[in-house]
Amino acid sequence: MNEREQELRAAAEKADQGHLFQFWESLSEDRRSKLLDICAGIDFQLVAQLAADLQKSSATGNSETGSTESAPEPPELFPLERNSKAENNAAKARALGEQLLRAGRLGYVLVAGGQASRLGYDGPKGNFPVGPVSERTLFEVHARRLLAASRKYGSKSPWYVMTSRANDATTRETFERNGYFGMDKGDVFFFTQDMLPALDEDGKILMAAMDLPFMAPNGHGGSLAALRSSGALDDMRERGIEEISYFQVDNPLVRPADELFIGLHSQCGAEMSSKAVEKVDPGEKVGVIGRMQGRMGIIEYSDLAPNLRDSRDASGKLRFRAGNIAVHLLRRDFVESLTKDRLELPWHRAAKVMQVIDESGQPAQRAGTKFETFVFDALGFCNQSVTLEVDRALEFSPVKNAEGSDSPATARADLCKLWSGWVQKAGMELPAADENGIVPIEIDPLLAESEQEFVALGALQPKRHPAGHLYE
Ligand code: UD1
Repeated sequence: MNEREQELRAAAEKADQGHLFQFWESLSEDRRSKLLDICAGIDFQLVAQLAADLQKSSATGNSETGSTESAPEPPELFPLERNSKAENNAAKARALGEQLLRAGRLGYVLVAGGQASRLGYDGPKGNFPVGPVSERTLFEVHARRLLAASRKYGSKSPWYVMTSRANDATTRETFERNGYFGMDKGDVFFFTQDMLPALDEDGKILMAAMDLPFMAPNGHGGSLAALRSSGALDDMRERGIEEISYFQVDNPLVRPADELFIGLHSQCGAEMSSKAVEKVDPGEKVGVIGRMQGRMGIIEYSDLAPNLRDSRDASGKLRFRAGNIAVHLLRRDFVESLTKDRLELPWHRAAKVMQVIDESGQPAQRAGTKFETFVFDALGFCNQSVTLEVDRALEFSPVKNAEGSDSPATARADLCKLWSGWVQKAGMELPAADENGIVPIEIDPLLAESEQEFVALGALQPKRHPAGHLYE
């Protein structure tokens, strides 16, 4: 037994995970060394703690490590409908946001490490086509929005794309093959989040194969530590980036360079801020922004007690209506200080039936638990935070499920509805609606990002594709 093997076996045994080596004798040299490499990446101390917590809570019936006991309060919102005072503030904030964009103080972080399992798509979700006419992918649509901001403000902002080990190579290859979607290669920085093993009911690491513990991405909260360990934070500091615009891969309408949001956040020195849309249906599967014991946070839809979920204020609106669209601004120095020592975000658990191997090495299905941290739990460390309410029709239509709500079909309908409104407003001709009543129109974000910008362009000729009209 060499030294490395000895050390890793000892670490695994100490955490009560010695069974990782149960198939050792039947493994080839190559497979042994693969197993050792994976074990070297496992934080066994953390695994022991997660296993102990899991068993403690299954004994007490508590399913979460991060859930809060005391009743939350709704947050203060910078509202969508504004009186003249708020509109004045908004104008000042917009000017500040523009100034920061012009000075190149903003860096973008996209989290794209998820597994797209609900969408049932094989590959990075960013490769999923969402352009109703062009069939541009999520990655390309996001890149075009970043390019639009960089053209508008004459400055370059780097883009940090978080992948997971499962999709890192394909994601890099996609960017390479597509010429970085028009961005400078030197301004795109890939970084990979960590993985964590999944545990069975007894707190033992499940095995996916004889030489492979079952590993899963550690949640988008893992982006914060990974920004540091990958050198992305250093890169930001060297480039003079002060604010990080954080967004998810699944929303084709996301506006990562929003002058108003940047300005409001910066004006009050917020460490981390969030955008929200009004949740109108209590059952909608979005987290809601709230205050817990005075601290900002997000309560996942699955954790919001039914009495709070359904409660309404005097105006008849839902009390907890600030639906989280997972768009945040974070000060770079806030992320630096959070990740200086070990970052302690609460662990959230997802119980799933997993395809694994059993003790005899045969394929089996087992109940298992995956562990994740969530980036929005960093809100709890803020002293100042802004919640900006935005118009859902303009900024939020995610692609999450294969069918039903938040699916490719709903995103297509929302995008076409939005853009056909702009075309109509500009007094231009609309193509015929398809069999679902959808008018197939697409407006490239590089051409216009708002109705106002589009109308100001005057009469335009669209490209007429069999799939519809494309303005680009
Ligand atoms: C998420 C939010 C929810 C919000 C909704 C808005 C969580 C737990 N909940 O729900 O509050 O209302 O978005 O759309 O996030 N990802 C990684 N690595 C991971 C896990 C996820 O990069 O380890 C990325 C995914 O690629 C995706 C995003 O994070 O872009 C969202 O993850 P997902 O788990 O699908 O969250 P939702 O249930 O959609």
